[in-house]
Amino acid sequence: MPLFSLAYLSTATRRMSDDDLLDILRAARRFNTAQGITGMLTYFGDTFVQVLEGEQETVLALMQHIQQDTRHRSVTVTRTREITERAFTEWAMAFVNGDRFQDEAGVHPGLAPSFSADAILAHADRADALMDTLRPGLGASSSIGASPSA
Ligand SMILES: Cc1cc2nc3c(=O)[nH]c(=O)nc-3n(C[C@H](O)[C@H](O)[C@H](O)COP(=O)(O)O)c2cc1C
Repeated sequence: MPLFSLAYLSTATRRMSDDDLLDILRAARRFNTAQGITGMLTYFGDTFVQVLEGEQETVLALMQHIQQDTRHRSVTVTRTREITERAFTEWAMAFVNGDRFQDEAGVHPGLAPSFSADAILAHADRADALMDTLRPGLGASSSIGASPSA
């Protein structure tokens, strides 16, 4: 069975605290580890961008489930594709807190100054660019890594 990758963006229905984000990540990591799902979640202001990788059926079933989560709305899938290798092999769900990333690192060239769901949708390739930009930094700094409070 080929591997499958899906990216979406969504809008948080309220401001997420570190505890809120940890709740999401704990559930995600438990489930994803059991189901062979890997990926990455970013949170910027009120925008989530997530990449899910795994067997197609598993990813699509999880996506159906995540879509119904009332912590976000306007869930928009920006990309689906078959892949031969995972981009986030070692991550049941990597996490980047974009607000901190911006605070500490300045506005990254991969990010529009007015980063928003609308802005990303207007440039659908931006979510991909964002992921590609952030991925090499995973785990390399205190603002990017395993937990939002790290
Ligand atoms: C932005 C966002 C991303 C999420 N990502 C995942 C994920 O990757 N894996 C997962 O199992 N749950 C994820 N969840 C949580 C699920 O929506 C759901 O709350 C969780 O699977 C528990 O479901 P249950 O309450 O039906 O048991 C995410 C939720 C949000 C808001």
